[in-house]
Amino acid sequence: MPLLQGNVRVEILRSKEEMGVWRRAGVGTVALVPTMGCFHEGHLSLMKKARDLADNVVVSLFVNPIQFGPEEDLNRYPRDFDSDIALASGEGVDCLFAPPSEEMYKGLPETFVYWPRLGKLLCGKGRPNHFRGVGTVVLKLFNIVKPDVALFGRKDGQQGILIKRLVEELDIGIEIVICPTVREPDSLAKSSRNQYLSPDEKKQALGLYRSLSEAKEIIENGVRDSEELRTAMKAILLEFSGLDMEYLEIVSRETFDRIKNVTSETMIAVAGKVGGTRIIDNLWTYEENGVLKVDL
Ligand code: PAJ
Repeated sequence: MPLLQGNVRVEILRSKEEMGVWRRAGVGTVALVPTMGCFHEGHLSLMKKARDLADNVVVSLFVNPIQFGPEEDLNRYPRDFDSDIALASGEGVDCLFAPPSEEMYKGLPETFVYWPRLGKLLCGKGRPNHFRGVGTVVLKLFNIVKPDVALFGRKDGQQGILIKRLVEELDIGIEIVICPTVREPDSLAKSSRNQYLSPDEKKQALGLYRSLSEAKEIIENGVRDSEELRTAMKAILLEFSGLDMEYLEIVSRETFDRIKNVTSETMIAVAGKVGGTRIIDNLWTYEENGVLKVDL
């Protein structure tokens, strides 16, 4: 059912069959932005980038039940379909693929994509079936939409890395682009779950960013020793008594193994809870002209 908003037309497709018809009728390349909706600037940045990368932009909007644990927030996960349609229109998205749950799953699947080691580390320790749910739905979306390129946010750093591995190791032939983390004015990483946070909780949540920004400064001053970084980050985190840390890891982006010294392919990942809300953030290092740089 096409929807007109201003001058921009977004097709809203609810079934795999409709998606197939749309896909076969279209011309040119397709970029896919997989999402669970309730769009914020982070999602919109992926849609903007997608516009630069392909002739057509498809955004999928599906709150994927199989990536939520039994104690997690599936039922209260924020949803705002009308606002999502307006925001996607504003970004010139061609097609919003928003299937109902029954269209994607007939009960719990028998077939999963999972990462036996990498998916159990970092966020996977506290969320045992989470990445299995993510991998499975993302592969389904790839098969349904058949994009040329798909975009993911670096905010969910482990997720992006795992999807890249999926595509490489299963020869899927889709280009994966990882885009920078978009932050609130106070630097808290944007997240649909931020709306669960009270103003006081938001101040506590900022501890994650503050600790990473301390690490960034220290790395830029030449420190490479992980223990030194960890100690400095922990000292910052102690100032945020309302932040209940789940992990602070300084790892290789290739193996997720802890490393002794920071290199050009390090991720420092942090996760914690404020009130009942789980939040994550990370920084990535890279090398530019022989200089070690930090993306936060
Ligand atoms: P969701 O949390 O809706 O995020 C959709 C995409 O937006 C992901 O690639 C995520 O990394 C990116 N994103 C979220 N916050 C961001 C921010 N502050 N800056 C930049 N990008 C940001 O991630 C998921 O949905 C799901 O796991 C999904 C991949 C759709 C599978 O169900």
